[in-house]
Amino acid sequence: MGRADTVPAHTLLPMPADNWSERRVAFGSAAADYAAGRPSYPTEALRWALPDGARTVLDLAAGTGKLTERLLELGLEVHAVEPLAEMRAVIPAAAHPVDGTAEAIPLPDGSVDAVTVGQAFHWFDPPAALAEMRRVLRPGGTVGLFWNLLDDSVPWVADFLASVGGEERASAIKPDPHPVWTGIDGLSEPERAIFRHAATYDAARLVAYVVSRSQTILLPADERAALIDRVRDVAPDGEFELPLVCEAWRGTKT
Ligand SMILES: C[S@@+](CC[C@H](N)C(=O)[O-])C[C@H]1O[C@@H](n2cnc3c(N)ncnc32)[C@H](O)[C@@H]1O
Repeated sequence: MGRADTVPAHTLLPMPADNWSERRVAFGSAAADYAAGRPSYPTEALRWALPDGARTVLDLAAGTGKLTERLLELGLEVHAVEPLAEMRAVIPAAAHPVDGTAEAIPLPDGSVDAVTVGQAFHWFDPPAALAEMRRVLRPGGTVGLFWNLLDDSVPWVADFLASVGGEERASAIKPDPHPVWTGIDGLSEPERAIFRHAATYDAARLVAYVVSRSQTILLPADERAALIDRVRDVAPDGEFELPLVCEAWRGTKT
């Protein structure tokens, strides 16, 4: 099964095909904005996805370590795998950051209790990545996939997305979705849960958020500057809470 056969379970799956290959490797040049601008993940979503007694976790496509940091705070032994050197350089050293991809994970068979993926499964080749995740998991270990979406039921967030565009809209979450994967040997059918949370922003952080998006990174300079102006126009004054919805999926190695 190729990428085009991915079950469209999520608002970000499948990604638009036109410049997908360019976008998946674009993040490196915006690593500082990514670290400053992206929100973290709710700890309760991570706890929901981890198996009882989890000790060792692979954070796959770890980026700058947003999800990695939450895992470290839970006292877990974390192995962060990330292909882009600029992103990897920001990951806490305690997470043993290493170069690698989802389709060729540089860890031994059966070596982790869980594999977590934040905001990145839509960049993978799903069959190859799922086979690799299953290989590195011990029996009973879990896969946890997480996506942070903006809660556009809140009027200013809807206005913000109307002004600056964006694929990560909570309103696109389906009440009765197809599973994010199905029929994968050695992995249970996945379950989904939704976690509401929020992060404190100001206009500068909201600009960093938008600038860290792959589609923004690839814009011509004048369009990017105009986009940043629109973000500043629509951002609330001072500090504010950005309302978020984390869509989480978990499955178990059988
Ligand atoms: C939107 S960022 C998410 C980073 C981090 N997980 C987070 O939650 O902030 C997507 C990351 O996926 C990585 N990525 C893209 N394709 C990948 C692949 N095939 N294997 C592993 N990582 C990949 C990119 O380098 C980038 O760091």
